[in-house]
Amino acid sequence: MKATTVVFGILMHNWFCIKMGFFPTLKEVIARPSLLLSPAEISRIFMAKLWAGGFGDGIDEAGRSTKEHLITPNAYGSVLDLGAGHGHTTLYLDHAKVTRYIALEPNVNMHPLLRKAAFDAGYHESDGSFVLLPCGAEETSKILAALDSKPVDTIVSVLTLCSVPGPQKAIHNLVRDVLAPGGIFLLYEHVLSHRSDVAWWQRFCTPLWVYVMDGCRLDCPTDIYCADLEVEDDNGVMSSPWKEKELWGQVDEPEEHLLWHQVGKFVKN
Ligand SMILES: C[S@@+](CC[C@H](N)C(=O)[O-])C[C@H]1O[C@@H](n2cnc3c(N)ncnc32)[C@H](O)[C@@H]1O
Repeated sequence: MKATTVVFGILMHNWFCIKMGFFPTLKEVIARPSLLLSPAEISRIFMAKLWAGGFGDGIDEAGRSTKEHLITPNAYGSVLDLGAGHGHTTLYLDHAKVTRYIALEPNVNMHPLLRKAAFDAGYHESDGSFVLLPCGAEETSKILAALDSKPVDTIVSVLTLCSVPGPQKAIHNLVRDVLAPGGIFLLYEHVLSHRSDVAWWQRFCTPLWVYVMDGCRLDCPTDIYCADLEVEDDNGVMSSPWKEKELWGQVDEPEEHLLWHQVGKFVKN
């Protein structure tokens, strides 16, 4: 596919996003002009409005069969959902196997709908089966403190690692400290393309994209960070923490896509 087609695609995508999030965000800024002093908060509000305005449901629908294949048969025990957004992951949790849903979501504007999704899926804060962590995935010590240092059985990351500052270190610390031995890491992310022409456009578009989409980068090879991960063992030797690792692409996705996805299942030693 020609580069111009790729760029046209992303412009259309951006226009679609802007239409859904822009006017509700503008309304909020007019009501609270002090927001103009905090562009990062405007970006978070934009993201929450966009996700609530049907965009989140559309993205979920597009990834439904991937998530049904990835999350439903594999997630078990206590599940930590990184960047839980509006809780779409709850739609794929098998309640017979998932005893606790721990939603990590730093954008508090997303919390009301996230709480509702957890409640609708049968996870409640009152009995401890639902926990909401208002911090970033990179804040491992806060996560561990909130969980009383109890590691989780499953970590799910759906379209989130692209927004995490220092994703390589965050993945390392989450796997080393937060994921239990034998636990499973499930990943469904848009990543840096393996095609150099598409990767060029991803890098070109990222400076604007990151600003509008609350820190989301198009050029993040988080699939590689997970697959090639090494952690230090008890003897100080660096080695792979995985006893099983599997990476695959999204079915029927053209490889020219700027939001090119990879799906991964990693089982910890
Ligand atoms: C594209 S949305 C995906 C939401 C959800 N996982 C889903 O599939 O619908 C990215 C999410 O990552 C969250 N996020 C942003 N920075 C983050 C960070 N440092 N750590 C964890 N999540 C973050 C955003 O607030 C947002 O909810």
